[in-house]
Amino acid sequence: MKTIFSGIQPSGTLTLGNYLGAMKQFVTLQYEYNCYFCIVDEHAITVPQDRLKLRENIRSLAALYLASGIDPNQATLFIQSEVSAHTQLGWIMQTQSYIGELERMTQFKDKSDGKEAVSAALLTYPPLMASDILLYNTDVVPVGNDQKQHLEITRDLAQRFNRKFNDIFTIPEIKISKVGARIMSLQEPTKKMSKSDLNQKSTIFILDEPKQIEKKVKSAVTDSEGVVRFDPVNKPGISNLLTILASCSNQTIKQLEASYTNVNYGQFKQDVANAVIAELEPVQQRYNEIINSNELDEILDQGAEKASLVANKKLAKAKKAMGLGRVK
Ligand code: TYM
Repeated sequence: MKTIFSGIQPSGTLTLGNYLGAMKQFVTLQYEYNCYFCIVDEHAITVPQDRLKLRENIRSLAALYLASGIDPNQATLFIQSEVSAHTQLGWIMQTQSYIGELERMTQFKDKSDGKEAVSAALLTYPPLMASDILLYNTDVVPVGNDQKQHLEITRDLAQRFNRKFNDIFTIPEIKISKVGARIMSLQEPTKKMSKSDLNQKSTIFILDEPKQIEKKVKSAVTDSEGVVRFDPVNKPGISNLLTILASCSNQTIKQLEASYTNVNYGQFKQDVANAVIAELEPVQQRYNEIINSNELDEILDQGAEKASLVANKKLAKAKKAMGLGRVK
């Protein structure tokens, strides 16, 4: 059975983009692959975090993974900082990374743009992400479109290490879903929907109340053509809503275009809002049942234990290949 690894940062409430671009596909993949799903809290601290809020976000993300349908009997769910091999291999992979290639990462450029003080860890984020993936002999990494560049550098680092030292890392493939890989902001549909958008109307959060979702979808920016058709260049707003509806209703964009030929934007938006609400309501219900349960802690304990066993073996191989420590 092939192995999957993916991670989500606990850096705020998850968005519909995270859900449709990543989480939703994890749920189907867990039955076909040996899966590791991670709450990457060490990535989150590459930018300043409030300590209490971070704790809350970590737990909330764990509950959301389960609420969205991750089954702990099928997949290993764990917190990155509870498996110390991640930062240890992260250091090793930093020694194989060039500052120039790290500075070229668009996420680094975006997050450091205009900031007076930028942490060194924001620059060395990709070798840590590579370590997450490489520790588990990962074959496939399901992510949204924005992680493509990070996956490319992961492959480069793995190949570089294998060539220089010993052939110990599996070279992972990226898996981007056909629909939903890039959900855009509702207010500026040429920008991706993001947790950190200052305009609250731009982003649907997974835990938003139905009324809020309806309000946000209804105030989404569209165009004056009045025709529901998919054309991301000329009609980014409507195209984004079509993508959202397709992902939430399991219909293709072509089917939707055909059924909305004579429908006005008002009715179309209402249908999009209803579909999003129907998609998220069961997730929210399960989330409320799970968030304060002891079971959640048990699942995370077991996940960390299982992940550590695999990760420590790979770490030991990497250390040995580089000549670190003693031969035992
Ligand atoms: P993060 O936490 O920003 O996002 C988690 C997942 O959600 C996807 N995503 C989106 N998909 C569609 N539309 C959007 N608007 C949207 N916004 C986010 C992301 O592509 C991602 O799949 N670096 C990663 C976390 C990470 C990781 C890893 C991922 C750390 N180690 C190892 C995979 C494997 C990140 O910041 O994702």
